Amino acid sequence: MVELPNNFKLKLYERVGSTNTVAKELAEEGAPSFTLVVSAEQDGGRGRFNRQWVSNRGNLFYSLLIRLDINTPMLHELTFVTAVATAQTIKSFLPSERSVSIKWPNDIIVDDHKVSGALLEGSSDAGWVVIGIGINVAVTPTSAGAASLFVHSPSSLKDLGGGDLSIEDVYTRLSADINEWYEEWLKAGLSGRIFREFKELLWRKGQEVRVSFNADKGEYLQGINDGIDEKGCLLLRMPDGKQKTITAADVLAPLPF
Ligand code: BTN
Repeated sequence: MVELPNNFKLKLYERVGSTNTVAKELAEEGAPSFTLVVSAEQDGGRGRFNRQWVSNRGNLFYSLLIRLDINTPMLHELTFVTAVATAQTIKSFLPSERSVSIKWPNDIIVDDHKVSGALLEGSSDAGWVVIGIGINVAVTPTSAGAASLFVHSPSSLKDLGGGDLSIEDVYTRLSADINEWYEEWLKAGLSGRIFREFKELLWRKGQEVRVSFNADKGEYLQGINDGIDEKGCLLLRMPDGKQKTITAADVLAPLPF
């Protein structure tokens, strides 16, 4: 049976606004590295680009505080550690015929549905980072009549054949996987197994994608997903053959022409 790694200090809550906010407050109060905040409910879940993260009870809301020493590389590298670890966790709970991929930079897509997203907050100056991960375990979120809150159609482990999992099953396994990939990062950085695994799992690699910079204003570029460079930026091949380097955006399926 998988166990929570010894160095993790679990703090379980019944209800919070955002587990990331709680973990950031704990960081400022001096909580140790590998403090893990998990809550059964979240009523102010936050996603990338200030979006709302629809947080149904039964799903996992997970925020891990990691303190970085002065020699550690930049915190954005943990984006890739997070993505490969979360993909590994999700794969472990699903039937093998399910296709699990990473939509750059760290969404986990299963058979074209988003089941997990991550929001990393902190700064190298402050010396800590909070890795916030949401996994739809038991419930596929819906927009409840509002305009769609989803950039990518969601699903859950349960609806994809994962069975009746508890959030404990998932946060225990996720912690073990993050611990493993974090150790690999400390040893070898991104350039070894982490980037290999990330590239292997990259969603729509070599296929057309739409890269959206401002979903509300409909600002996007469409081209071929050429993978990532040595820093982890996305490479987008434009119709004229030139490559653009993307540092922050949403990657979406292409619009039909
Ligand atoms: C995204 O896909 O936009 C990122 C979603 C991140 C959601 C998680 S849920 C746990 C943690 N607490 C938050 O408020 N956000 C992250």
